[in-house]
Amino acid sequence: MEHLRIEPYTKYAQQQVIDLWATCDLSKPWNDPILDIQRKLIHSPDLFYLAWIKDILVGSFMAGYDGHRRWIYYLGVAPQFQGKGIAKQLVEHGENHLIKIGCPKINLMVRKTNTPAIGFYKTKGYKDDPVVVLSKRLVTDAH
Ligand SMILES: CC(C)(COP(=O)(O)OP(=O)(O)OC[C@H]1O[C@@H](n2cnc3c(N)ncnc32)[C@H](O)[C@@H]1OP(=O)(O)O)[C@@H](O)C(=O)NCCC(=O)NCCS
Repeated sequence: MEHLRIEPYTKYAQQQVIDLWATCDLSKPWNDPILDIQRKLIHSPDLFYLAWIKDILVGSFMAGYDGHRRWIYYLGVAPQFQGKGIAKQLVEHGENHLIKIGCPKINLMVRKTNTPAIGFYKTKGYKDDPVVVLSKRLVTDAH
């Protein structure tokens, strides 16, 4: 998309990111967005990108690479900017970064009910894996 800039997260964008995640329904009561951002900045800030058009935050993409697989989180595009290829550019940007750092495979989790996101990822070549995702929370962030 014309004039789209994909740049690393900066602290000046914190409130805009929190607002974007809320608008995209990416915020969940059990995740504190400020803590999620702070933890990301400690570990791999270079894997947290924002998409801008002028001074409007239009998208976000967070990833983690543990030396074996890469995980994607917090992919979201502001509703009024969806359908313009912004998520596609964010994911491609992330995939290119991944190739450069030698990661062989990306994993991601999408809620089964999130058919738009599943539809999007399928167009990008992502497939269903026959696995069950288990998780265990070690720190409770809920307010
Ligand atoms: C999923 C989401 C990120 C897609 O963003 P977007 O910027 O609208 O997507 P794009 O415009 O880049 O679409 C890229 C491709 O995906 C396709 N696509 C987008 N939304 C789709 C949908 N709902 N169903 C099927 N395909 C879809 C587009 O048609 C396009 O295909 P093409 O390249 O063949 O033309 C956006 O809908 C969103 O922010 N949703 C809310 C947050 C969310 O659920 N994030 C995922 C959490 S796991």
